[in-house]
Amino acid sequence: MKLLVLNGPNLNMLGIREPQIYGAQTYRDLEAFIQGICDAEGIDVQIAQTNHEGELVDLIQSAYQNADGIVINPAAYTHTSVAILDAVKAVALPAVEVHLSDVSKRESFRQISYVREACCATFAGYGFDGYRLAILHLKKMIEQDGE
Ligand code: DQA
Repeated sequence: MKLLVLNGPNLNMLGIREPQIYGAQTYRDLEAFIQGICDAEGIDVQIAQTNHEGELVDLIQSAYQNADGIVINPAAYTHTSVAILDAVKAVALPAVEVHLSDVSKRESFRQISYVREACCATFAGYGFDGYRLAILHLKKMIEQDGE
């Protein structure tokens, strides 16, 4: 099983940006956390981060016929990007949305998620653990699909 884990703008600043919201751990720590889970679960994973919307679209498209599922934290593009929604719909892969913070309890503009429409689940407010929940959810779905 191969998964693509995608992270959007400013997540490379984890550990520095608003630690009261996003925590003290760095993006490198997040990568290691995700890699550790995937290694333990026997999942081949590609982890990527970009600050650019078009690059997120390219990365989503690269998963077509190349990955079994996508975990995506589009960060601020969650709340603005129809292009990312369309890309996830286009590749027609199971996708799970993740947010470190609980976006439902923050500013009203964060209550809107375009990508959610193309996702089978959302985990928000669990910090790094949201990625573990998303990966395990996707793994179960993909395994059930293959039966
Ligand atoms: C975020 C929440 C978004 O609203 C914000 O723009 C981010 C990070 C999160 O992981 O909590 O950059 O996606």
